[in-house]
Amino acid sequence: MHTRSLSNGVEIPYLGFGTYLIPDDEAVTVVGEALRAGYRHVDTAEGYGNEHGVGEAIRQAIDTSLLKREELFVTTKFWPGNPAWGDAPKGRTETRAALAASLERLGLDYVDLYLIHAPFGADQRLDQWQALVDAQADGLARAIGVSNFGVQHLEEIRAAGLPTPAVNQLELHPWSQKPELVAYLNEHQIVPISYSSLAPLSTWRVAPGQDSAKTADMRTDGERQDSAFKVMAAKYGVSEAQVLLRWAVQQGYPVIPKSTNPARIRSNADIFGFSIDAGDLAAIATLNRDNAVAWAMGDPTQAG
Ligand SMILES: NC(=O)c1ccc[n+]([C@@H]2O[C@H](COP(=O)([O-])OP(=O)(O)OC[C@H]3O[C@@H](n4cnc5c(N)ncnc54)[C@H](OP(=O)(O)O)[C@@H]3O)[C@@H](O)[C@H]2O)c1
Repeated sequence: MHTRSLSNGVEIPYLGFGTYLIPDDEAVTVVGEALRAGYRHVDTAEGYGNEHGVGEAIRQAIDTSLLKREELFVTTKFWPGNPAWGDAPKGRTETRAALAASLERLGLDYVDLYLIHAPFGADQRLDQWQALVDAQADGLARAIGVSNFGVQHLEEIRAAGLPTPAVNQLELHPWSQKPELVAYLNEHQIVPISYSSLAPLSTWRVAPGQDSAKTADMRTDGERQDSAFKVMAAKYGVSEAQVLLRWAVQQGYPVIPKSTNPARIRSNADIFGFSIDAGDLAAIATLNRDNAVAWAMGDPTQAG
């Protein structure tokens, strides 16, 4: 198992399984498939509406002796509310209640990582973070962190004298490399986790209703015969998805690819048998164009 140490010594597996857009009633089958394929890290959220199905898959894996609870790394996230969407920010007590509700749906006594989903909590952001600090002290989360936080949001926590988040889960792929933010995270021992690592693929979120900020132009770009990822995939004898996931791992970012397709679930896990060479890493470094596409409303790290 390839892992990275968080600042408090907890080990996070580099390979995780994402579950956004997997409905609750499919999650038990799909997450079960991922656990059988060897994933030992699962990423869900209150906002994905599938914690019950994810929890059921975990319970079945434990009951059939596929794995022990302590061999699995489970992440969930609490939805902070967003006043810009008419959704009142949660305070400290509501944040704590949200964790209790997530644990209940998951059927777990604790999670390995609990995150604030986005910096949308406005004047409640620090209270929300304090609630996570308390939950960790009470043993309900082995590690705590944030997601979609920019430097300004992390500096707010620092200025308040509160503990530093262990991770910041972000949209990170060759088209969205966020160099200044990543430099800040490295300086402060905050581990970046890469989501939407596969965004440059032409197959990324193509089903109807899977909204994003990826434009038709960018989709066509991913289909070009001379796409850098196609050329590298042929060179290493792997898929373009494996190139994108391997790139993230070589940057030190745990990855959480999502798929509902069993063959893709298995191949996305097979990323430790090759390395992208220095020349290709340098070529990928030039591809950043600040295209954060996962959220239809644009890059959430810019939230006020
Ligand atoms: N914190 C946040 O705000 C945030 C935001 C977004 C995502 N996330 C987390 O990160 C996870 C991953 O991000 P994501 O779901 O946006 O995108 P992703 O994992 O980068 O890509 C998933 C998309 O790529 C397709 N795909 C997967 N494997 C493929 C392969 N080998 N070849 C071709 N296409 C492939 C999938 O289709 P099929 O299912 O048909 O294979 C799906 O459309 C999420 O599930 C969620 O857990 C977090």
